[in-house]
Amino acid sequence: MSLNVSLATPFISTLQLDTKKQATAVLIAHDLQLETYIHILNEIMKEEEFLNSIEDLTGRVAIVTGGAKGIGLETSVYLALKGATVYIAARGSKGTYAGIEDVRNRLKSVVGDESLGSKIKYHNLDLGSMQNAWNSAREFARIESQLDILVCNAGVSMTTMQELSPDGFDTMFAVNHLGHFAFTTGLLDLIKQTSKTTQDSRIVFTNSNAYKLASPLDYEKLTTLIPNDGQTFKDASNAFKRYADSKLAALYGVLELTHRLRQQFGLTNIYINSCHPGNAIGTTLGAGHQKAVHPILEKVVRAGLQVTIGNSTADSAKTQVYLAGSRYIKDHDTYGAFWEPSFSWIAKAYKGCAGEEYTELARDEVERKKLWDVTVEAFKKAVGEDEIGSVDIVKGLIA
Ligand SMILES: NC(=O)c1ccc[n+]([C@@H]2O[C@H](COP(=O)([O-])OP(=O)(O)OC[C@H]3O[C@@H](n4cnc5c(N)ncnc54)[C@H](OP(=O)(O)O)[C@@H]3O)[C@@H](O)[C@H]2O)c1
Repeated sequence: MSLNVSLATPFISTLQLDTKKQATAVLIAHDLQLETYIHILNEIMKEEEFLNSIEDLTGRVAIVTGGAKGIGLETSVYLALKGATVYIAARGSKGTYAGIEDVRNRLKSVVGDESLGSKIKYHNLDLGSMQNAWNSAREFARIESQLDILVCNAGVSMTTMQELSPDGFDTMFAVNHLGHFAFTTGLLDLIKQTSKTTQDSRIVFTNSNAYKLASPLDYEKLTTLIPNDGQTFKDASNAFKRYADSKLAALYGVLELTHRLRQQFGLTNIYINSCHPGNAIGTTLGAGHQKAVHPILEKVVRAGLQVTIGNSTADSAKTQVYLAGSRYIKDHDTYGAFWEPSFSWIAKAYKGCAGEEYTELARDEVERKKLWDVTVEAFKKAVGEDEIGSVDIVKGLIA
């Protein structure tokens, strides 16, 4: 197998320090040191090699948010091919049901019978509101007794500020960060319980290397309507910046969650990681929101990007599937890391990716804590403290 991996050795022993406070500081530093970019799946890794690098997932239960479309759909196919029962968590639209049918047909065409198709299930989820996302998670915890793999893949890009989410935020910030925060925390008791048996649970956040372009988060801007937004090229450029910010927010959330689950709860067998999936230019991400970008111009730009930096949608699912299902992650105690594939020639040529640490802004603890506080406040407001308090681990997590 051709893997090009470099990973700092975890430094867990430093947790044995005098005071809790010191231990916390060291763990944060440790988390951030570990998060180097790792080029893992390059073009030498053929489909068979890739599938062999993923464990047999028979008996495992997975959720893929946004799993009926784009990169999420390919992720659902790969996980089911390896034997997992896959819940596609998505909004119930015609497109979702068609996507689920597509996944089932793909599996049937590969294995030749319908057995794998029955492993694909649907679970209703709207990440646009924290309340909906939480309710969806709690419902899942009622109907399923196990959850081994959670892939937080759904996302939106280039939306305008003409309307805010039900919680009063930019919709990209809402779906890419807040909704996934509420959904993930609502599943934590189930994930924790499962990890006691398997000693190996995975949470994967589909991020984007766009986070590197983020600015310090401006919460006032993120909560202020702009009535005519989306009409000019400047608006489109601002929308992309907000997308980058939403991915930085998601990253902060992941790092703080990882840190708290390990440090506060000692849950060292839940492996949480993020990735840039690749450049799947052919998906619907970001399409149709910005009026200044004519559909024909958009097609031309996308076609140009596809031939220069593009990856296939299936290739773009591989890094997150690897984080969800490769034994490497547990064997190397990999958590809090950001993985980035290097299978496009341009990424390989772009030397700057290799071994790079998180950006300075991503490592900014003050900004990270601020994000956590804003998130928790919005969460309490949306879901209610009594409801949150009914799940012990979440109550402790946000205290
Ligand atoms: N494509 C790329 O090159 C690229 C690069 C970097 C990062 N990413 C990230 O990769 C992930 C997948 O993107 P993609 O390219 O596969 O895009 P996509 O084809 O547009 O898929 C996005 C998915 O997110 C779901 N979603 C959007 N809003 C939702 C909501 N409120 N509740 C529940 N689900 C919702 C969509 O469901 P609906 O059908 O209901 O809208 C869809 O299934 C995203 O997180 C994206 O930021 C993509």
